[in-house]
Amino acid sequence: MIFVDACFGKETPYTPVWMMRQAGRYLPEYMEVRRKVGNFLDMTRNPEVAAEVTLQPIDILDVDAAILFSDILNLPMEMGLPLRFEKGVGPIFDKTISTEEDIDALDASADEKISYVYEAVKLIRERLNPEKALIGFAGSPWTIATYMVEGRGSKQYAKIKKMVYANPMLLHRLLAFNTKETIEYLSKQIEAGANAVMIFDSWGGALEREKFFEFSWNYMKEIARTLKQKYPHIPVIGFSKGVGLYMGDMDGDFDVIGVDWNTPIDYALGIFKDNYTLQGNMDPTRLYSKSATKDAVEKIARIMKGHRHIFNLGHGILPDVPVENAKYFVDLCKEVSRKLREE
Ligand code: CP3
Repeated sequence: MIFVDACFGKETPYTPVWMMRQAGRYLPEYMEVRRKVGNFLDMTRNPEVAAEVTLQPIDILDVDAAILFSDILNLPMEMGLPLRFEKGVGPIFDKTISTEEDIDALDASADEKISYVYEAVKLIRERLNPEKALIGFAGSPWTIATYMVEGRGSKQYAKIKKMVYANPMLLHRLLAFNTKETIEYLSKQIEAGANAVMIFDSWGGALEREKFFEFSWNYMKEIARTLKQKYPHIPVIGFSKGVGLYMGDMDGDFDVIGVDWNTPIDYALGIFKDNYTLQGNMDPTRLYSKSATKDAVEKIARIMKGHRHIFNLGHGILPDVPVENAKYFVDLCKEVSRKLREE
């Protein structure tokens, strides 16, 4: 698989490409399934449906990897925090974590209750072209904790950051619990057939440097270390958003580091060299314009020529991007990187 080869820094005929949130609302085929099923969460809990929408971007865009259709919040939901999505607000947990007792009450069999995800992985792997990789994923312990403590998306992170400074031991207990569950969860995704796993740390950038390493990156490292011991042939991708300036201190048993669109990829390359494959990082809003897309793809490809790289956006694709432009991006990444290899 070209995607897995690129994760390990092996030579590939072109730079593989996929997009974060590639199974989603910009695809009319996805919206049709969602209309039929009724809502997003039910889609994630139905392995047949999850498999169908996971495979849509492979058929439509010919990306090099499929990413499991699910959400990072399914795992905390299965820990016993009922989840709902509200239009205009996003995900909401009505029950939240604020005390020791709340943590004790969390269900440590979440990684088993979530078996519908493993069923989906099996179905997808059966149906997916053997040349294409299937990426499994989970949220980082810190990022899922932000939702578990705040109850919803947040601008200030006042509740969880209060815990960081006023009750750090309580937060470490929650993070240790999330880490253990996440290791089990990702292991079971791998056992079911995932060819790589990615840890999404969307809110790592809510923390100052020292606290980011203490409360987020160290737990991600623990997940990577444990998984690589068990499954050395499975690439592990770490993606923390908003922490470009902390990169000089980021290390660990990852194969790939995701680069967000705020971090110039030449800057990231200067720090990481070829110790990791870098994944990213076009600003997703460039997809509104083909010429803006072309400028960025050519620039990124030129910078990453001869280096370990996987093309992606620097965050998820937005719901109103024309499919035609997404297809243009995917085709162009392959074409440009193929040509640069011949230079
Ligand atoms: O990348 C993929 O295609 C794989 C599937 C995936 C989804 N969410 C599907 C989804 C992945 C990897 C995620 C991760 C996720 N979910 C993150 C981390 C990555 C990131 O974007 O920073 C976070 C923070 C979440 C929590 C979450 N789920 C939010 C904030 C939202 C948006 C709510 C909204 O109204 O826009 C979701 C919903 C969600 N997750 C959708 C999809 C396709 C949209 C659901 C829909 O309305 O159909």
